[in-house]
Amino acid sequence: MTDKKVFSLKNRWFTGSVLAVAGIALVAGFIGFVLVPRAHARDAMLSLWESICRAAGAPGEYFSPGLDIGAAPRSSNVIVNAQMMAPADSASIGRGATLAMRCTMCHGARGMSPAGSPHLAGQPSAATYKQLRDFKSGHRPSAIMRPLMDELTDQDMRDLAAYYAYLPRERLSDPVDHDTPRLVRNGDPMRNVGACASCHTVEVRKPASPWLDGLPESYLHQQLLDFRDGRRHNDVNAQMRNAVRHLTDEEVAELAKYYASR
Ligand code: HEC
Ligand code: HEC
Repeated sequence: MTDKKVFSLKNRWFTGSVLAVAGIALVAGFIGFVLVPRAHARDAMLSLWESICRAAGAPGEYFSPGLDIGAAPRSSNVIVNAQMMAPADSASIGRGATLAMRCTMCHGARGMSPAGSPHLAGQPSAATYKQLRDFKSGHRPSAIMRPLMDELTDQDMRDLAAYYAYLPRERLSDPVDHDTPRLVRNGDPMRNVGACASCHTVEVRKPASPWLDGLPESYLHQQLLDFRDGRRHNDVNAQMRNAVRHLTDEEVAELAKYYASR
């Protein structure tokens, strides 16, 4: 047994450990200060201090008042609030009725679609107006709706929305009386799923959240999958994407069936 000092460069265990720690620190520094900030370049980090705050989990607005949030891609350029639509007046509804002649082929003579396109009758005007704006700007992709929007002005879209909101939602089939799925009533807090009914109930009147009852099942199903898998992303603050992100195929199918038969 030799009598070597522990903290000595001659002790190869000591030098080895010091080198290993220094190596780990270098690699961690490279990942934390070079690789990760690069991968998140879109967040436009301004300084080393901000990187440190971010790494510690401090919310953005605490440490970067000057950050240009406008640089991030927006889900929609429509500002959704309670004042976005003027109260419906009959002149606007009349103009909307004339413009809607081009839409009847797919959305039905009175806004009830015979062939799987979404019904528009009775839909809150803010919901229809927002979708039309999003089709026009491309925030909601649609090969069918996008080209139709070219010649519509902002006022045309408001008139169309007012007209469809004024039409009564008729029933194409009798509502089926069945239990309300748990997700609709309560959501699932453990998976961060909000209750569908908290936004999709006519009485709630959340601006621009659409009325789902009686929409074609295939349409509902497709929209839920599109939100879940990120193909549709025009929902402000990702409210729909967050609601369906963790749903299984079975749950999506059940929810589409439920709302279609209401
Ligand atoms: C050729 C058929 C067709 C025509 C014509 C058409 N649409 Fe559509 N529309 C669709 C389809 C299909 C969808 C579903 C979106 C998709 O799948 O791309 C849709 C979706 C919509 C939506 C979204 C509804 C929702 O619940 O989110 C609105 C609003 C709409 N159309 C309004 C109109 C208006 C207004 C016109 C007339 C200017 C019109 N559409 C003409 C086929 C059509
Ligand atoms: C926080 C409010 C909120 C919750 C919770 C919510 N939604 Fe939505 N949902 C919205 C909004 C707002 C829109 C319109 C998005 C847009 O602007 O395009 C929407 C759109 C939809 C659409 C598309 C309708 C259409 O006509 O295109 C479907 C389908 C839908 N939601 C189903 C659901 C289901 C099922 C749940 C429950 C799992 C749910 N939503 C939970 C707010 C919500």
